[in-house]
Amino acid sequence: MTDSNSDNIDTDADHQLRVSKIQDGTVIDHVTGGQALTVLTILGIDGSGGEAVSIGMNVPSDRMGEKDIVKVEGRELSQEEVDVLSLVAPDATINIVREYDVIEKHRVERPTEVVGVFSCPNANCITTEREPVESRFSVLDDGVRCAYCGTLVREEFAAHIGGK
Ligand code: CTP
Ligand code: ZN
Repeated sequence: MTDSNSDNIDTDADHQLRVSKIQDGTVIDHVTGGQALTVLTILGIDGSGGEAVSIGMNVPSDRMGEKDIVKVEGRELSQEEVDVLSLVAPDATINIVREYDVIEKHRVERPTEVVGVFSCPNANCITTEREPVESRFSVLDDGVRCAYCGTLVREEFAAHIGGK
């Protein structure tokens, strides 16, 4: 875990630098291969906000085989964003970078519940009607379940982001 060569994407001087280091911001490392774009959706990043973002997709990782990596300049993540990230990237590490140094590093943790993030796909659910009811999903091993109507959302989390 602390071996700096364990993921030689850009720490090993003998290897080409694939994604540049950032000065200030957040590096989301060890993202499940192929999930980087979903991570951007979760963070609400589509390029229009002007943030500098670098992405590596399916890059080799000794620990994971292949991983994605997302580097966002000038931005830290909320706990809610980290909670949702854990659902699509359970092995991710969140690295907070200041003046080029990693000043904080932590693994994501699966929450038991996510509130106000996903919208329920059930059109008859009380959370999708005009009532002022915030969405509430409990987190299961194989997906998330609406606390109000029981609808299970398995994989397509990103499509349901934008709850109330
Ligand atoms: N990083 C970066 N910009 C910086 C510092 C670090 O983009 N200024 C990236 C590194 O490239 C790496 C991640 O942030 O992908 C974590 O950095 P670091 O803790 O230095 O690397 P490792 O020790 O390899 O991390 P781990 O043990 O979590 O694999
Ligand atoms: Zn529902």
